[in-house]
Amino acid sequence: MSDTIKDLGTAELTFDGKTIILPVFEGSEKEKAVDIRALRKETGMITYDPGFMNTGCCKSDITYIDGEVGILRYRGYDINELAENCEFVDVAYLLVHGSLPNKQQHTEFSENLNSHSLLHEDMRHFFDAYPDHAHPMATLSAMAVSLSTFYPELEDSSIQENIDFKVTRLLSKMRTAAAFAYKKSIGHPIVYPHHNLKYCENFLNMMFRTPVNDYQVDPVVATALNKLLILHADHEQNCSASVVKMVGSAGANLYASISAGICALWGPLHGGANQHVIEMLERIIVEDDGDVKRVIERAKDKNDPFRLMGVGHRVYKSYDPRAKVAKRMCKDVLAKMGVDDPLVELAQELEEAVLADDYFASRSLYPNIDFYTGLTYRAMGIPTDMFTVMFAIGRMPGWIAQWLEMRDDPHGRIGRPRQIYTGPTQRSVN
Ligand code: SDX
Repeated sequence: MSDTIKDLGTAELTFDGKTIILPVFEGSEKEKAVDIRALRKETGMITYDPGFMNTGCCKSDITYIDGEVGILRYRGYDINELAENCEFVDVAYLLVHGSLPNKQQHTEFSENLNSHSLLHEDMRHFFDAYPDHAHPMATLSAMAVSLSTFYPELEDSSIQENIDFKVTRLLSKMRTAAAFAYKKSIGHPIVYPHHNLKYCENFLNMMFRTPVNDYQVDPVVATALNKLLILHADHEQNCSASVVKMVGSAGANLYASISAGICALWGPLHGGANQHVIEMLERIIVEDDGDVKRVIERAKDKNDPFRLMGVGHRVYKSYDPRAKVAKRMCKDVLAKMGVDDPLVELAQELEEAVLADDYFASRSLYPNIDFYTGLTYRAMGIPTDMFTVMFAIGRMPGWIAQWLEMRDDPHGRIGRPRQIYTGPTQRSVN
């Protein structure tokens, strides 16, 4: 952890005639925090903050978000620069190791990813046991934790080599498992990874090559996939990263922690939103005859549980910078591929209606990363139920980096929030 913390003095909390002094500090981007670690011991009181909207769980060197302005940086590099100039493999290395790889490090990392790209043949047979309609996020989570049964020798995370092996195994094998799950779902024979192909090209080849078509990776699609995975690579203490760290804080291994994070990401309020955006747009065409005004009214109606998927964010109170890149990419990829998808026009109409409506502006609700990414995946030929899997493949390095930082945190403790009990006071059975 870099020592960029600045002491800002103290804050006072006075209650019931007693005043306690709490330290205040700021991080490298001038974010300020009150250190309440002594609160309960000195006052018997705890803080109350459902959803942890105002609660910092750690200090971190990895990712910085300014939600008011719409800034996202991985290890100090702006997301727009990374998406424009880097490969996903380089960004994965950056998040895990803290700096972009030089030429030799890039080569070694890529070779490691390739040498760990195969699943154990016994794991390959797991897919035969799943029903064709199994959601690939369930399969992916099961495959992640199953890796710990095939590589138990890596349990000792104090050995750096074990960590490097685990990192490349997860980044590479989860990509393979995702493609295998897709092939199983459509009844096609699986396609093995190939050492001659780079990370994204390998995935596309495993997804779309068949015994009867000599699939050639379209460079437009490979470039778009690199950018999309970079956009998803980390997002500080989001729900799924917090789950990965919570599970890891109990001493569970990295594979088990990642498996739990995949399940958290699956939720429609989190990574699952990219699938639900497409399903929402399709329903608008079928059920609402494309009537955007009616959809907007439903989203604003407190008596209607309907929410606009891909809109709103816990941290971004401005346009999600990733959504800006995703929107540009979506138009570029569809144009280059000659795809004319009516859902894109509907999405743009919906976005314009959101941006023009005070209900959303007054609540700082803007399109988030999930609003346009699914439309690009769709143009690339990736099926809707694989969209959250794509999010998980992109987020893998971020989860791993956050887990490693949690493991190395000298102040790290097992995660265990408190509560205020409101149930029955003591009563007797008799
Ligand atoms: C991701 O945290 C991360 O960093 C996540 C992520 C990442 O990279 O890891 O960025 C990825 O999960 C993006 C978000 C994907 N989810 C969706 O698109 C689902 C739709 N969005 C919402 O459900 C919601 O906006 C959340 C879950 C994203 C955020 O929820 P919050 O922060 O708890 O906000 P809230 O539910 O308290 O909403 C505040 C107000 C409420 O109205 P009031 O009670 O003030 O009148 O805004 C309203 C909400 O009803 N609101 C919406 C809305 N989202 C919030 N109203 C209509 N449609 C919506 N989408």
